[in-house]
Amino acid sequence: MVSTRSPLTASSSFYAAADDSQRDAVLEAYIAYLERRNGRLDPKTGTLPLREASLDKMNASPIRFAGKLSQADFDQLYANFAPKAPALTPELLLLLTFCKMNAGEAYGVRIVKAVHGRRDKDRTDLASRVILVAQEEEEYHTRILVGAAHYFGIRADGVYHPKPALKVLIHSIAYAPRLLFHPILFASEAVGVYLFNWTLNRVSAFYKGQPELQDALAQRLTEILIDEIGHVAFNRTVMGPRGRRLGRSLALQTVRGMTLMTPELAALGFDRAVERDFAAFDFRDLPQEVRSRGFFA
Ligand SMILES: [Fe+2]
Ligand SMILES: [Fe+2]
Repeated sequence: MVSTRSPLTASSSFYAAADDSQRDAVLEAYIAYLERRNGRLDPKTGTLPLREASLDKMNASPIRFAGKLSQADFDQLYANFAPKAPALTPELLLLLTFCKMNAGEAYGVRIVKAVHGRRDKDRTDLASRVILVAQEEEEYHTRILVGAAHYFGIRADGVYHPKPALKVLIHSIAYAPRLLFHPILFASEAVGVYLFNWTLNRVSAFYKGQPELQDALAQRLTEILIDEIGHVAFNRTVMGPRGRRLGRSLALQTVRGMTLMTPELAALGFDRAVERDFAAFDFRDLPQEVRSRGFFA
């Protein structure tokens, strides 16, 4: 079969070699990009002013799901997910997946920030400056995802209990020595891009007849993807050749743990075949808007 995919170039693959002699120039360019996209980080509050504005706009949307979801069913399944529960409609399942991805990310960000905040608080090198902003972007991802519940008249504020597989991944990122930190982080960022892109492609199968709701959900995922490809590019830039090899092999393993970390994904169709497809997934498979608005060098 002839592939219809465009060829990958060094600057269009998550795994391509980076020009290590250009590392500082790429990081400077990324820092400038982050400031254009987010506004200047307030180091005291962790606030990114342009992201606050973008989030306010999304949350002010009057769009509402035309059907009805029950808060009690949501709370019950949020606390104890059961793929065969009679109350689990497809509409509720997709919203639960958004909220659980959010909760998993929030948990990870909290642990990694707590550990690195203590360890790296006085570092001012280019990579540390990027990490400072990227971690705050992750905070916005949690708010972007959980904000999707507004469209459904649902409050997503239940207590989240991370699965053991997620705890292992997050603690390995948080406590890894620097040499391993970027490959492990790269792996989880690359798998995150795959997962959000897969979820984005699933949105059109839900809430049929409500294109505005589909668009609003897709836009939330798109904003996250735009950030995440920058995070992938950043980790690729700072890793070096051995780190990049390790990062790829860790990513291939990490994708196999996603349904252990978020079982809602399995119910949504994230199965072995989807896991296998990750091996061929790359930058070119992302939507045009993500590729054109994101930073990928
Ligand atoms: Fe994220
Ligand atoms: Fe990220």
